[in-house]
Amino acid sequence: MSITSLIVFCYLPESIEAVPAGKFDYDTQSGIGSFQYGHRYLERHNALAVDCAALPLGGPFLPATSNGGLYGAFRDASPDYWGRLVIASRLHCPIEAITEIDYLQEANATRVGNLDFRFSPEDPEPTFSPPQFQDIDNLLKASEELEQGHPVDEQIRVLLEQGSSLGGARPKCTLEMDDELWLAKFPSRNDGINIPRVEYATMTLARECGLIVPELRLLTIGTRDALLVRRFDRTSISGSWSRLGFMSALSLAEWDERDRERWSYRTIADRIRRHSKQPDTDLHELFSRIAFNILVRNTDDHPRNHGFLMEQDGLSLSPLYDVVPALTRSGVGTEFSLAMGIGPQGRLAKLSNLCSVAPVFNLTSAQAKNLTTAMQKRIAQSWQETFLAAGLTEADIVLLEPSMTLPFAKI
Ligand SMILES: Nc1ncnc2c1ncn2[C@@H]1O[C@H](COP(=O)(O)OP(=O)(O)OP(=O)(O)O)[C@@H](O)[C@H]1O
Ligand SMILES: [Mg+2]
Repeated sequence: MSITSLIVFCYLPESIEAVPAGKFDYDTQSGIGSFQYGHRYLERHNALAVDCAALPLGGPFLPATSNGGLYGAFRDASPDYWGRLVIASRLHCPIEAITEIDYLQEANATRVGNLDFRFSPEDPEPTFSPPQFQDIDNLLKASEELEQGHPVDEQIRVLLEQGSSLGGARPKCTLEMDDELWLAKFPSRNDGINIPRVEYATMTLARECGLIVPELRLLTIGTRDALLVRRFDRTSISGSWSRLGFMSALSLAEWDERDRERWSYRTIADRIRRHSKQPDTDLHELFSRIAFNILVRNTDDHPRNHGFLMEQDGLSLSPLYDVVPALTRSGVGTEFSLAMGIGPQGRLAKLSNLCSVAPVFNLTSAQAKNLTTAMQKRIAQSWQETFLAAGLTEADIVLLEPSMTLPFAKI
């Protein structure tokens, strides 16, 4: 047996220094992890569960066997494809050559949520120096070079790495601007349309439909755009940052990322009922997000693209993120699916499929119908105006039209 141990630190509410919460032992041979809370942590009046589904403060809990042997909240705090690419470029090796536990430990203070992983309880607070707004030009260039496998200037690579520990596959970097932390999402080489601008427009449309959306900005650097989304898990206090706990829906439902067959909105709704401090509000919001995903053909609604913030009195849905219409052509594939099961017709992206399970979201059938009809009208009337106001061109509107209008034809 070959065990690597990490101390799991947690930033408790309003605190800018993390405290040791427990020990994570990872068997590098079997790829199984196990965790134990420290006694002193459990005695704290404000102790938070580090993973409220798999590791409740009162125990008992099982070893982590799925998701590479990481508990869900730990996996959420580790980088995905993009962050791994950035770390691998420093270590000069392919991304597959680095183990899950190394990525977990290598990720820096821009990781999502309130956890940190160190080798010893005495290890000092890591330095936190996210890039600044004025660095964005260089960061954008570096992200382009890195995506294409080109060498990146070392100083700029370091800067990019300082902000690249959030999850997700697309090029991105956390940066500081106006005393706030922002997630900057950059263009990617495979984009068939200006994705940062389309994401900005879609999130703006979501806000107009009443969904909870973080503050957004769009920046143009030369010929490229970057979308800035305010980090919802960080608040500035006394020159530093306090952090909120974060768990994806994947972790809350205790699913494996390869276990796509099991993913369903019904299970997420059940978990909201069990853990949320405001179940009705969250269930209604989740229902509206599913309706929105159907209406704008956002088929990348996998369970890591739904998040929850954890506080002592319970958890709540995080603001919306990562919502973009999938491009399609008129007359092609009039039926499409979301990434998770919705109702009796499985993943089929139809409002009728969603409305038929209204009680799952604590709604009556009449409420569900009214809500979806109002959203449908609102999108039909205003999406073009909203997208043009966001700076998209008439040609972009033509490209997006089939994604935005197909659902209306087939209700
Ligand atoms: N505003 C935010 N504040 C804090 N964390 C965020 C915010 N938006 C997203 N995140 C976290 O960052 C991760 C990556 O963001 P996002 O999903 O937008 O990136 P992506 O690369 O487009 O993802 P994907 O691989 O799903 O396409 C999310 O899974 C979530 O954990
Ligand atoms: Mg995502």
